[in-house]
Amino acid sequence: MSASSTSSCPLPKERVAWWEGRKTCFPHPRAILLPLLHDIQDHRGMLGREEMSWAADFVGITPVEVLGVLTFYWMYDQGPRAKFRIAVCRNISCDLRGAQEIVKALEKKLGIEAGKPAKEGAPFSLREVECMGSCTTAPMIDVNGTYFEELTPEKALEIIDQIEKGVISLPPEIETLPEIPKNLAHSYGTVPCGEEEAR
Ligand code: FES
Repeated sequence: MSASSTSSCPLPKERVAWWEGRKTCFPHPRAILLPLLHDIQDHRGMLGREEMSWAADFVGITPVEVLGVLTFYWMYDQGPRAKFRIAVCRNISCDLRGAQEIVKALEKKLGIEAGKPAKEGAPFSLREVECMGSCTTAPMIDVNGTYFEELTPEKALEIIDQIEKGVISLPPEIETLPEIPKNLAHSYGTVPCGEEEAR
């Protein structure tokens, strides 16, 4: 029995149709897995067993392969997601410029431990992650996809305070589906993206 017949669809119909179209753009449908998982996570709020099974079936791989992806990238959550998800870079540039102190200050302020899964309905989660490509403005944190850079522990606490009070509003996470350049598929000799609907 396929996963799709046992797992309920985690996305609205029109989004499934959009992803069906994107699958034809690449030599193997697994190429869409990362953005597909983001989309499912945004809709379901998490990526549990059911979501994993559905995604695996949709792109033609096993749930274990999907699990491998989920556990490799920090931006996916298998359990409940906090409203604000703080990631502190702990790679060399950020660490040399005080990232560890930022983590300690945030743990103390928020009363949570870095790396612990969020509880249902939690306002914040905190994790330490590898380089996020902003080394020249270290140390830095990411909150729901928005970067805050050149921080001190005090600045980080102030930012979190302002986010909590709504003084800083974060841009919405992915709501529109990412566009794939129409000519991308030509290099693979498959159906050009965006044209499959017209056929
Ligand atoms: S080391 Fe922190 S962004 Fe690169």
